[in-house]
Amino acid sequence: MTSPALHNSRFLKACRLEPTDTTPIWIMRQAGRYLPEYRKLREGVKNFLELCYTPDLAVEVSLQPIRRYHMDAAILFSDILVIPDALGQKVEFHENEGPVLASVQSETDLKRLDAGRVLDHLRPVFETVRRLAREIPAETTLIGFAGSPWTVAVYMVEGRGGGDCRRIMDWARQEPDGLQRLIDLLVEATVAYLAEQARNGAEAIQLFDSWAGAFAKPRNAAGFRRWVIEPTRRIVGQLAVRCPEVPVIGFPRGAGDLARDYATATGIRGIGLDSETPLDWIAKILQPICTVQGNLSNRVLVEGGEPLENETTRVLEALAGGPFIFNLGHGVLPE
Ligand code: CP3
Repeated sequence: MTSPALHNSRFLKACRLEPTDTTPIWIMRQAGRYLPEYRKLREGVKNFLELCYTPDLAVEVSLQPIRRYHMDAAILFSDILVIPDALGQKVEFHENEGPVLASVQSETDLKRLDAGRVLDHLRPVFETVRRLAREIPAETTLIGFAGSPWTVAVYMVEGRGGGDCRRIMDWARQEPDGLQRLIDLLVEATVAYLAEQARNGAEAIQLFDSWAGAFAKPRNAAGFRRWVIEPTRRIVGQLAVRCPEVPVIGFPRGAGDLARDYATATGIRGIGLDSETPLDWIAKILQPICTVQGNLSNRVLVEGGEPLENETTRVLEALAGGPFIFNLGHGVLPE
């Protein structure tokens, strides 16, 4: 569906471990509130999900950072929480508070979720992908994305961002088969959602596992394997059958040294690293396994000036010799 030129972008070459003329770059949350043009457009929209489900607006917002900074990749403008919304869970975005969901806590709550309506509900997102694939420059890679089952489940069970993840951790301990059913449902919905993004023109996929760190402190390698690695491995395996040319980059934020198991056991082509992960460890342990992506501190980006130049140089010197995509360790801060 896409032209050969697109598959030779700097970004996709880096995903395939091929040499690039220079280091590719994009940044997480490159579209969003730090951009005045985003804030202006956002003022005219009642709620955030409406923005995600209106292709005219979502296309425009995805393109804003590309026009300004000519990133090597454009990421679809949407959110990881469109999946619970599509499953029929109540999802709201409150200003200065982040997302708030009606918490899923029991078999009865689970039974209300319907994976059958996901693709239909998310049709506007696919329309956005299709239009972006046409509108972005040929050398710019279009990244589709979803949250990983674990991270989406954290929001679904906790009802908000993870905090200490107490509720979901209790569920995992007390009734793992119940939580497994939620994870299985999310694997199914996520594969369908991502394969459809690929079919409509997404050239690479990022899987955000923003709450993977719940198994790092205290360290719980068995929990990490079951709830983070295993669902990710299943998604990557099924996508490898349905859209083999589309590389998947995983972002197990906060995983610490468990990132090594993640890189070897999930089958992902690239791994996103947070700013806490030591550069020499990334170069020595992860770069021989797959492409690495990261990991400049988003705080340093706000600071600017000499600290920003020094830190950028430090990251490049450590990682640009191997397969590497420059990024932040987490999303751009609104300030
Ligand atoms: O350029 C891009 O990356 C834009 C697309 C995008 C958004 N969210 C838009 C958004 C992507 C890739 C995401 C991913 C996302 N969403 C993650 C994984 C990455 C990470 O940050 O760890 C997570 C955990 C979410 C869930 C989410 N959505 C939260 C916690 C919040 C509120 C926090 C905040 O920053 O306000 C959102 C809302 C959200 N998603 C906004 C944007 C631009 C701000 C909402 C607004 O404009 O009112």
